[in-house]
Amino acid sequence: MKIRLVTTITSVAVLLGSFFATSFAATDAEIAEGKKLAFDRKLGNCLACHMIAGGTLPGNIGPPLIAMKARFPDKSEIRAQIYDATVKNPRTVMPPFGKHGILTDKQINLITEFIHTL
Ligand code: HEC
Repeated sequence: MKIRLVTTITSVAVLLGSFFATSFAATDAEIAEGKKLAFDRKLGNCLACHMIAGGTLPGNIGPPLIAMKARFPDKSEIRAQIYDATVKNPRTVMPPFGKHGILTDKQINLITEFIHTL
């Protein structure tokens, strides 16, 4: 009886886990869109300051965006940095893309998904 209960709880947890994993994972199309926005000189323009794999003519004012998934397991930290970098560092030169309305919330979400794949 006890074993059956444990098995049931485990399988429910596994089911819920896979449900959340799939419902929050970005599609390839969303990641590609995020990359386009990040590289677009009139939108994210992240390459002006950051080296990003696949991007041309990167600047080096900001740190290279490498090993992001390993360094930022929590995607929301990347999003927060893009939304308003001044929260972490009031003197940063990184524009507060969300706070100043440079990018929409949706654009920031897509860029976050792309950066998280690096
Ligand atoms: C004008 C230069 C500039 C631009 C443009 C810029 N950043 Fe930054 N970024 C920085 C600097 C400088 C830092 C270092 C942290 C600080 O200043 O507090 C940084 C830090 C970061 C970090 C944290 C990296 C780490 O290793 O800790 C992320 C993530 C990031 N930027 C993403 C982006 C994305 C995505 C874009 C484009 C939407 C972007 N940045 C555009 C200058 C810039």
